[in-house]
Order: sequence, then structure tokens, then C-alpha cells
Amino acid sequence: MQEHKLSRRIFLKSSGSAAAVVGTAGAALLPTSAEAAAPAGSTSTNLTYPKRSVGKAGGMPVNQAVSFSYPDPSSPCVALRMGSAVPGGVGPNKDIVAYSTLCTNMGCPVQYEGGTKVFKCGCHFSMFDAENGGQMVCGQATEDLPRVLLDYDAKTDTVTAVGVDGLIYGRQANIL
Ligand code: FES
Repeated sequence: MQEHKLSRRIFLKSSGSAAAVVGTAGAALLPTSAEAAAPAGSTSTNLTYPKRSVGKAGGMPVNQAVSFSYPDPSSPCVALRMGSAVPGGVGPNKDIVAYSTLCTNMGCPVQYEGGTKVFKCGCHFSMFDAENGGQMVCGQATEDLPRVLLDYDAKTDTVTAVGVDGLIYGRQANIL
């Protein structure tokens, strides 16, 4: 019986130490409040998106992709003047939209097809609807195409890129 009590005392003593060790290690593994506020995969950033002119609305061809890069040179995008108003469209006819051209599946370049008004990825055949915010229509991708947010200045007829909605493929944040 005495042996049993000693064992119990030793057990309680040692388990207390173990709990302290686990508590210390656990605290080291817990995220700080800043990390908890910005979870992995978040597109939020404290850095400001640049403003970059995409061109004059009146000079954009209808239903043809106009290439540019945004928010930096390693991020290919296209602007499209759809020819009739679309959700999120800017310009005098609310028909200009822009997207990243990196497929959200594995980053292959997508191609715009004017006949169907969708972006097609040749790698695994994902398709994205240009008239509906880059919505994923079919294929391997599970995310919509990131949409470049645009501003329109009626005085100068200028379309300007001001942000990105959605995470550009291969990035932890859109602004690096
Ligand atoms: S990289 Fe586009 S579908 Fe796989």
C-alpha cells in the first residue's frame, strides 16, 4: 500500500511537470493575435495596391483581350470591353472588366475566347466566365479567376487598376 502511495505521489509530481512543459510548448505553438487576425491564405495585406492605368475606355476593342500586368510585372492580366453591361463592369457602358490570367488550379495561363466569352485553361480544361466575375464554370479549378478591381475617370476616359479581388495563383498575398 505504501508503495502504491509513493507511486501515486511520484506520478502526480511528474505529471505536474509534464503539464508545465506541455503548457510552455503549447504557448509557443499558439498564434500571436496578429497571426490570428491574418490567417494563412488570406489576401489581406497592409500594403497598398498601386494605381495603374489600363488605358482609355474608348480605345479598347470590343470583346478582345488587352494585356497588362498588375499589381506587379510578374502578374499577367487582361482587360476586356465586353460590349454590354456586366456585373462589376466600369466605363461609360459598365462593360469593362479585368482578370488575372493565371489559372487558379495550377497557374497555367488562361486564354480568352471571344466566341463563348470564357477563359479557357489548356492544362486541365478549367473555364471561367468573363461576363460573371471570372466565375469558375467547369474543370479542375475550385476558385474563380481573380478579378482586377477597376476605377473609371469619365473626365479623362481612363480605366485604372486599383486592386485585386481573389488570391493570384502562387502567392500568399497579392502584394509582395
Ligand atoms: S492549371 Fe488550369 S486547369 Fe489546371
